[in-house]
Amino acid sequence: MHADSLKKQFQTAFTTLPTLVVRAPGRINLIGEHTDYNGGFVMPASIDKAIWFAAAPRSDQQCVLVAADLNEKHEFALSDLSKSDKSWTQYPMGVLNELMAVGLMPKTGFNLLFGGNIPLGAGLSSSAAVECGTAFVLNELFGFGLSRLEMVKIAQRAENNFVGLQCGIMDMFASMMGKAASVIRLDCRSLEYTYFPFNAPHHSLVLCDSGVKHSLAGSEYNTRRQECETGVNILQQFDNQTESLRDVSMAFLQQHQAALPPVVYQRCQYIVSEIERVRQAGQLLEAGNLAGFGQLMYQTHDGLQHQYEVSCPELDLLVAHTRSLGSVLGARLMGGGFGGCTLNLVEKSHVSEFIENITHAYQIQTGIDLTCHEVVLSNGTEKISD
Ligand code: GLA
Repeated sequence: MHADSLKKQFQTAFTTLPTLVVRAPGRINLIGEHTDYNGGFVMPASIDKAIWFAAAPRSDQQCVLVAADLNEKHEFALSDLSKSDKSWTQYPMGVLNELMAVGLMPKTGFNLLFGGNIPLGAGLSSSAAVECGTAFVLNELFGFGLSRLEMVKIAQRAENNFVGLQCGIMDMFASMMGKAASVIRLDCRSLEYTYFPFNAPHHSLVLCDSGVKHSLAGSEYNTRRQECETGVNILQQFDNQTESLRDVSMAFLQQHQAALPPVVYQRCQYIVSEIERVRQAGQLLEAGNLAGFGQLMYQTHDGLQHQYEVSCPELDLLVAHTRSLGSVLGARLMGGGFGGCTLNLVEKSHVSEFIENITHAYQIQTGIDLTCHEVVLSNGTEKISD
């Protein structure tokens, strides 16, 4: 169990026992990709891959962070949040920075050690898990009294302001608010959400990790966001009620195509269709129509590949390969894109065969060893008691 081994590592690093152990999970997203920052809907869930944190307050004003898996340490004073050259430090430090920005100042420094089993750069939101876990730990240690939703927003601002990725709210929301065996349907504009069971007794969700590491920060992700904003700004000239692409229908978009730069039009087309797909997905899943839902997954992938252009050849190959397999109902790239995982909806009785088949095909075509994980939907960020 990670919590036990982490406690031991904490004791070795700091000679005392932690006063708190917290688990913050990674996430998947059934459907609704790049819709969160467009005021749309998403359907994420927290999973059984997580980061565990062991922590204790100190008697001085120093903060010591240890990334157990990397065997690296970083120490700084509460009064000096200068960025370090170790990139992992920006996630916990970003959270501290945002807490301080709203006047929540830890009374003392603290020791924080963390590590886990979320594959890095695989699109499973290990960074959101570090941010949510840190926010949860500091809220507990220093009695800030923050609600889960407030912590979600702090974690998102840490990513936006300190890390510099203009991400939406989905990853942090899923890591903090997830529930075992449940999917969240989140309206990213109102932040209203409902849980629903992923009701698929004969099917499994399987992740195939392409092994291509995605790097989103400061790159294409922020460009996509800007392109969407450009689209909204132009469309507002024709309807001043348009606040986000959530408000735009396909008919309205097509009507004003000539006013939009071609690339911006293409990006908007994807987003408007994807928001509509999430609505349909909710209905199909409620009706138990998994085959219909699987078709939507393929449509999402097509849109991400050709219109939104956030895929890569390896992800396209993985998705294309599943189309000839009778045991797969749907597949698509998941998360921000440019690498990471595909999500596959596979007949339960054929999961091993599927993994063997796709691993072999991928190895032959790319020379890369594929890692696959059958997903279990688990609780969101939580305190672990002994
Ligand atoms: C990344 C971002 C999320 C979301 C997805 C795409 O994971 O952090 O906010 O935009 O990409 O759906």
